[in-house]
Amino acid sequence: MGERKILVTRAWPKAAEERLVSEGLGTVTLRHPDTALSREEWMAAAESYDAILPTVSDRIPPEFYVAAKGKVRVMANYGVGFNHIDIGAARENGIAVTNTPDVLTDCTADLAMGLLLAAARRIGEGERETRAGGWEGWRPTHMIGKKVSGATLGIVGFGRIGQAMARRAHGGFGMRVVFQDAWDVPAEIRAANGQAEQLGSIAEVAAEADFLSLHCPGGAETFKLINADVFDALKPGAILVNTARGDVVDEDALFAALASGKLAAAGLDVYMGEPALDARFLGLENIVLAPHLGSATEATRAAMGHRAIDNLKAFLAGETPGDLVT
Ligand code: DGY
Repeated sequence: MGERKILVTRAWPKAAEERLVSEGLGTVTLRHPDTALSREEWMAAAESYDAILPTVSDRIPPEFYVAAKGKVRVMANYGVGFNHIDIGAARENGIAVTNTPDVLTDCTADLAMGLLLAAARRIGEGERETRAGGWEGWRPTHMIGKKVSGATLGIVGFGRIGQAMARRAHGGFGMRVVFQDAWDVPAEIRAANGQAEQLGSIAEVAAEADFLSLHCPGGAETFKLINADVFDALKPGAILVNTARGDVVDEDALFAALASGKLAAAGLDVYMGEPALDARFLGLENIVLAPHLGSATEATRAAMGHRAIDNLKAFLAGETPGDLVT
């Protein structure tokens, strides 16, 4: 048996790459220049690597898993979301999968709060007007937005990031927080996270919410969860924030709700076909569009790399990695 081969599918922060190489876990292939693996490269990787460290934007061909059986033993994902990995196929073909929770919770909630504020207070639109030289000066009716402080925030998905969002909204902005989640959240967790109130359904949350922020995982179970029915249930003039996954939102319904004014605005970090955008969004002023920046701070991106390495190391040492998904 030759030396173990490890592939990192996209370029990582330097410190994390250096650590991975210096750990001596095997021969490490780094992607410089940083390009996404093609289908052919994935299929070749299935036969060449013992461990792969993929990330959230990877498009893994469905045939990869069978081809990788008996060769690739672990996929230590760089990212908390793993809806780009076919977990069932990985399990069936003996490939362990890990992810990187916790380390990006605060930064993602910070960005969600930023998008909420930007959408509510029309910051993107105002910046465009100012840059274009179109600002005619202060006046009482200029670019009126929606008040955030004291409003009601609805949260879909009360995991780590949903809870962090609730703390920011309640503690920082005095917002009332209501949420929906499938698990029955204990009173002490609700109290510690924005005095949040759990409601029975997304429709009930929507009916109460001035702002709706999404923090559920992506994948088949949440595909187009936020659809025309949810937009109908929202209060007129509500605002949607999505830092979860693009496929959670029915983008046709979102466009219709924004164009009709049913939704006052949206702040999005993720998209159904990202990085491709629904071209109709570009023509709307009442939408703030960020390029999947939730975890994009130096400290967090390095921490994600270290967490993936910790998981890989544990797996290769025959231990159960801390963040084993399957
Ligand atoms: C994740 O980790 O799932 C985010 O979408 C990117 O950091």
